[in-house]
Amino acid sequence: MENILEMISSNNIFFSLFGNPVSHSLSPIIHKIFSKQINIKYFYNTTLTPKNDLKEFLNKFFKKKYNLGANVTTPFKKEVIKYTNFLTKRAKISQSVNTLKKVKKKFLLGDNTDGIGILDDLIRLKFLKKNNNILIIGSGGAAYGIVPNLISKNNKLYIYNRTFYKSKILSEKFSNFGNIFCVNKNEIIKYNFNLIINATSSGIFNKVPDIPKCIISKNVRCYDLYFKKNGEHTPFLKLCKKYGAFYLKDGIGMLVSQAAHSCFLWHKKFPDVEKTIKKLKNKKN
Ligand code: ATR
Repeated sequence: MENILEMISSNNIFFSLFGNPVSHSLSPIIHKIFSKQINIKYFYNTTLTPKNDLKEFLNKFFKKKYNLGANVTTPFKKEVIKYTNFLTKRAKISQSVNTLKKVKKKFLLGDNTDGIGILDDLIRLKFLKKNNNILIIGSGGAAYGIVPNLISKNNKLYIYNRTFYKSKILSEKFSNFGNIFCVNKNEIIKYNFNLIINATSSGIFNKVPDIPKCIISKNVRCYDLYFKKNGEHTPFLKLCKKYGAFYLKDGIGMLVSQAAHSCFLWHKKFPDVEKTIKKLKNKKN
């Protein structure tokens, strides 16, 4: 009760996550932890947004004086670009927005913190080395968000998607930035990958992408953007383990990292990612 009264008191600053679905989101818990860490009182909730109503919902939210920013998730990361006034360079490059900030009281700045979020997490986990062959599975919004950051690291990126033409479009879009190639199922077996990233949405449906067993071995690092709230391995990581992989990590660290970069955009203070991940893991057990 105290918390609700605190939330509705007039001068509190608010942030929200717009998406569909959003009920599963850990972002409100993450930002509650951040708020304490950076010593700035702000509230963060979720807004379940009907598929055709994003514009109206955003207008209503940002009309309020103390509603200063938002996150945007599936399926709105591309659509939301239309409702922004400015984009950061990284949002422009990835053509996908997951963070909004109200500037000069009435304009909306769109940013993308997904790419830097995965980069930070792969570095934290020591999963990213120079001159590596990286296989990215999937060619949807999530893949678009992460490719620009991974391509900048002297690596070769191979994009594999069950619908080949989408991987072709993605790899062509970023071909000026570095080494990026699309591969089909027959070609995939010809390469030795150091890192394999599942950027498909298959985990949400308890499914796995169709990958040949021979591309996985003990030393291949396997990373899934998806994660299970209870901390269990995702279906993709279970499959990699079954095929002999040892280094297996899910996307919880990326979630916290991208949220930390959103927090920095809003408050100019960077929270402690490692401590937050530990806290989240303790909450689950
Ligand atoms: P997101 O924004 O989360 O990336 P999306 O744009 O719908 O979501 O893209 C989902 C990606 O996961 C696509 O690359 C999709 O493959 P298709 O392009 O062939 O649809 C991929 N995907 C989803 N379910 C999958 C499955 N069971 N096996 C393999 N790929 C899957």
